[in-house]
Amino acid sequence: MMTEKELVIDDMITDAMATPSPAKSMGDPGITPLSPTHVLNDSEENEPTRHPYVVVVAIDFGTTSSGYAYAFTKEPECIHTMRRWEGGDPGVSNQKTPTTILLSPDRKFHSFGYAARDFYHDLDPTESKQWLYLEKFKMKLHTTANLSIDTDLHAANGKKVKALDIFAYALAFFKEQALKELSDQAGADFDNADVRWVITVPAIWKMPAKQFMREASYKAGLVSRDNPDQLIIALEPEAASIYCRKLRLHQMVDLGNKTSLNGYSPTENVGAGMTQGDRYVVVDCGGGTVDLTVHQIRMPEGHLKELYKASGGPYGSIGIDYEFEKLLCKIFGQDFIDQFKVKRPAAWVDLMIAFESRKRAAAPDRSNPLNINLPFSFIDYYKKFRGHSVEHALKKSNAEFVKWSSQGMLRMSPDAMNALFKPTIDHIIQHLTELFERPEVTNIKFLFLVGGFAESPLLQQAVQNMLQGRSRIIIPHDVGLTILKGAVLFGLDPSIIKVRRSPLTYGVGVLNRFIEGKHPPEKMLVKEGTRWCTDVFDTFISTDQSVALGETVKRSYTPAKPSQQVIVIHVYCSEKESVSFITDPGVRKCGTLKLDVSGTESPAARREIQTLMQFGDTEIRAMAVDVATSRSVKASIDFLSQ
Ligand SMILES: Nc1ncnc2c1ncn2[C@@H]1O[C@H](COP(=O)(O)OP(=O)(O)OP(=O)(O)O)[C@@H](O)[C@H]1O
Ligand SMILES: [Mg+2]
Repeated sequence: MMTEKELVIDDMITDAMATPSPAKSMGDPGITPLSPTHVLNDSEENEPTRHPYVVVVAIDFGTTSSGYAYAFTKEPECIHTMRRWEGGDPGVSNQKTPTTILLSPDRKFHSFGYAARDFYHDLDPTESKQWLYLEKFKMKLHTTANLSIDTDLHAANGKKVKALDIFAYALAFFKEQALKELSDQAGADFDNADVRWVITVPAIWKMPAKQFMREASYKAGLVSRDNPDQLIIALEPEAASIYCRKLRLHQMVDLGNKTSLNGYSPTENVGAGMTQGDRYVVVDCGGGTVDLTVHQIRMPEGHLKELYKASGGPYGSIGIDYEFEKLLCKIFGQDFIDQFKVKRPAAWVDLMIAFESRKRAAAPDRSNPLNINLPFSFIDYYKKFRGHSVEHALKKSNAEFVKWSSQGMLRMSPDAMNALFKPTIDHIIQHLTELFERPEVTNIKFLFLVGGFAESPLLQQAVQNMLQGRSRIIIPHDVGLTILKGAVLFGLDPSIIKVRRSPLTYGVGVLNRFIEGKHPPEKMLVKEGTRWCTDVFDTFISTDQSVALGETVKRSYTPAKPSQQVIVIHVYCSEKESVSFITDPGVRKCGTLKLDVSGTESPAARREIQTLMQFGDTEIRAMAVDVATSRSVKASIDFLSQ
């Protein structure tokens, strides 16, 4: 056990340890953990929920579709889903609205959802090239490795736009819609200050993406930076889990047990079939991602404990759309498709809408072909581009299962459609198989399939085959709204989830006394006659470590100089459970802990800033206090400005 003294060294900066020379630049933060301990904050755990808000509004910002739902805190049992909006697609039922956004040529917000799509569609092709139309853009936050506040998106016409602006426009739109609906209900203007906002994000999202959503909410005026608690970031499968545990039997389909609901009355909830300690998996199958959580229920309150860190991947239903696009490229040529998308963007949107309804008709027992309407402008543009007909291309391509129908349609055999689903479904099944092999994931009573993609009979069958009766597969009615409703419940009581698992190992670099034999010689640094080991990874929390809500990690840091205004400490992360040095393979710098110590100057020779960090919530939080004066110090962790 190291004593506090042994860890103390002034004038050191975390980065100085990566390049082992004592840093001397301005604003050097002295970083020195004094007392590494985990503290369980009991008072917080048992605090009853208070409601400073009148209403909780949850926004499900989906890759393909979005929506909101709300409940008044006085009437928590009654969840209202958003008013139906005009618009809709033939053959496609949607409880949410498409996540599509349109900006005018001067880059001002024009419209969202069906309205955006319909307006864009009706524009003249030469005019539409000037407008900025965006869809499926949420995935960018998951796939961009170095996500920053300046990350760009590309509109359909190829023009760049700031992702932050787009997300902020969309959130501002939802704010306006929701407040309008609430005002109409109340018969008077509804005050945004009375709203607790909840935004759902995939559980597998990294911290930068979550912070990005928060920044976009500030920009949208949903909440202000001075009142961050007015916004809660909820995790999609967690929200679904909160809702699912309350499901009643008439609100769901039991895949293994379709005909009889023996032993349960229709008004009983799943919880009635669940007893203390029961374990279940929730799989949120969305457009962009498939996200899984493993929960254990604690009766009688129904509190939840996470048994294994959230997992999943980019295996959402749009993978099938991309396979379809690949198939089109094979038949008509990549050069043509690329050109067509830029030159006739609205027709491309049309084609994908036509595909969507056929995609939803795919089923394991289907034997008749699926026809996809090719827009006239596709047929026409192809002829101009290649000098021969679409029909000719199909004949020549030998794409066995895709034929040309005389009514101007692509005729796909069920096998061809199933082939488009295969890579995506295979990913999901492989992931589920691996998850169910883990020791933490045994004795799973229920598997809930939620999210729009859960409606796919092909996916349902694949999951059933994989599970082989190991657990009951439950599909709630209104799969698309499960997350929204759960997110409202979460906003009403964020303490439902008592224990989570850390998705990553987090820590900082520190200096330790050099120990011969234990520390590698190349890490040795001699300062004023004392030998130190640099780059030592001080672990805050490890991958998959369980952490209770309200539990804190405590460290003390001290400014290098009495006049120092701010302490900046680099935070590192790794997928590995155990990390020794910040230079280990797989360890990367992921954020900065910032302690604003301005105005806390004291005559004390050494100032100690005690920092508390919470890892048990959906976001990582930091709080700090100047020990000598007991004054609170502004603390924040930034994952976006690397
Ligand atoms: N029967 C079906 N077969 C295949 N895919 C389907 C079916 N029904 C809906 N989908 C797909 O589900 C997706 C919509 O689901 P959902 O609304 O849950 O996703 P999202 O919330 O927009 O995405 P994410 O949660 O990944 O951000 C769409 O991609 C849609 O094509
Ligand atoms: Mg979703």
